[in-house]
Amino acid sequence: MSGFTSKGLMVLFFLVFLVMCPTFDICDAGRGWDWRAGDKGQSGGGLSPTSPSQSREPKSRLILSSTPKPKPQPSPSPGPPALHGTTFDVLDFGAKGDGITDDTKAFQAAWAAACKVEASKIIVPSKYEFLVGPISFDGPNCGDNIVFELDGEIIAPTDPKPWGSGLLQWLEFKKLRGLTIRGKGIIEGHGNAWWSNKSQFDDDAQPSNELSGKMPNVRPTALRFYGSNNVTVTGITIQNSPQFHLKFDSCEAVEVSDIVVSSPGDSPNTDGIHLQNSVDVSIHDVDLGCGDDCISIQTGCSNVFLHNINCGPGHGISIGGLGKDDTEATVSNITVQDANIKNTMTGVRIKTWQGGSGYAKNIRFENVIVSGVQTPIIIDQFYCDRSRCKNQSSAVALSEITYEGIKGTYTYQPVHLACSDSVPCSNIHLNDIELKLLNEDEHAYEPFCWQAYGELQGPTEPPINCLQSEKTKINQMHSDQGSN
Ligand SMILES: *[C@@H]1O[C@H](CO)[C@@H](O)[C@H](O)[C@H]1NC(C)=O
Ligand SMILES: *[C@@H]1O[C@H](CO)[C@@H](O)[C@H](O)[C@H]1NC(C)=O
Ligand SMILES: *[C@@H]1O[C@H](CO)[C@@H](O)[C@H](O)[C@H]1NC(C)=O
Ligand SMILES: *[C@@H]1O[C@H](CO)[C@@H](O)[C@H](O)[C@H]1NC(C)=O
Repeated sequence: MSGFTSKGLMVLFFLVFLVMCPTFDICDAGRGWDWRAGDKGQSGGGLSPTSPSQSREPKSRLILSSTPKPKPQPSPSPGPPALHGTTFDVLDFGAKGDGITDDTKAFQAAWAAACKVEASKIIVPSKYEFLVGPISFDGPNCGDNIVFELDGEIIAPTDPKPWGSGLLQWLEFKKLRGLTIRGKGIIEGHGNAWWSNKSQFDDDAQPSNELSGKMPNVRPTALRFYGSNNVTVTGITIQNSPQFHLKFDSCEAVEVSDIVVSSPGDSPNTDGIHLQNSVDVSIHDVDLGCGDDCISIQTGCSNVFLHNINCGPGHGISIGGLGKDDTEATVSNITVQDANIKNTMTGVRIKTWQGGSGYAKNIRFENVIVSGVQTPIIIDQFYCDRSRCKNQSSAVALSEITYEGIKGTYTYQPVHLACSDSVPCSNIHLNDIELKLLNEDEHAYEPFCWQAYGELQGPTEPPINCLQSEKTKINQMHSDQGSN
């Protein structure tokens, strides 16, 4: 009997819902019900079953005031409603999306609900601007394959308060299996609140009095994934991050495609995509412009495939700095293919600190077009971003590095291969290199090599005569041993 009663209630609830909703599309009773099912047991979840329609009322008006048409559903939820593939719209959890109200709690509540359901979908609808503070979308006890459908805009607070004494990231996804972020939405970090040191000293610099307080010294990464696998990020734009835009740390099986990263060329440390301890990564068809490395590959990365990359402004595509503070680095199987690099500091770069150990090997740069790049091809084993670094003999060993089809224009030096004295670079292959000075009237430097061994597999423009053959290295080692 009690079974019948609850079924009756369900039907009643469903009917009430239909009556209350002007159209099925806007109200989406199925989703409301699914949300309620997913919300069970959530502490402090004070929303009643009818709250979806209630919370939707003011929002519909908000939409009507800015645009004549009611919001279309981003995509109809496919298949029958069930505890699989359920959708959770942040608006149903109290998010206002007016760009002023703090929607952090609504996002937390939407996540708490979606987390419980395998293949659930969080909807961040278009035409809204959600002000969201630092937030962590945490596993590991979430369902697999959650989709974060981002069509609206998420903006970071420019008020120092939510950042406390400083946080390493703003939006974090942690310990998840099969997470997808997709859509046409924007993640706006409002980095100018952090970059400009003007605002801290010059009261007239910014009209906003939100900036009267000082942002902490630690600047956050905009979007970070940690300890997750089968992660997909596609379609979105990430812009003006206070620090790195998109970071993967300890992730496996990552695919990033069709995204845009955008921040000014002089914004500090605003790497586009930063990879660390991550394996099986594919990044393709991306457009990255920022104030630091477009893509940066750090220790612990292997099997990374970068394809169809647009980069600039920025510092180019970099492996490293590896071996900082005498650490061990392990990097292998990195391929960069079909990249367009424009007006950057370097093109393709490997940088290591003195004193490090370990290796970076089997690295391939293929079909890279540079325009107005200061130094297109660079290995720097004396990397130091402090005022001075002490000379040390140990180094990260670099080997099996191929440059093939690197063409275009440079403004400073075409090739710079500065390898460690004690651990020379080995098996460097250069083929089909055509680099011209952008402005013939400017002064430029010749190709430079130091302790760089390998071979030219054909003529290069300009000639790179400084690369030493592996044979001379072997002979040298023999003569060194002979003299001992
Ligand atoms: C502060 O601004 C000056 C001038 O724009 C710039 O050179 C300097 O690097 C900035 N310092 C920091 C910490 O951003
Ligand atoms: C990713 O997902 C596929 C298919 O669902 C699965 O076979 C694979 O093991 C997953 N990879 C990782 C690293 O979990
Ligand atoms: C790198 O690639 C080679 C062959 O292409 C493979 O044998 C090796 O296992 C890969 N290394 C890693 C760390 O996956
Ligand atoms: C380190 O080595 C370089 C090249 O041999 C030399 O020019 C430089 O003076 C050295 N620096 C220190 C701090 O010893």
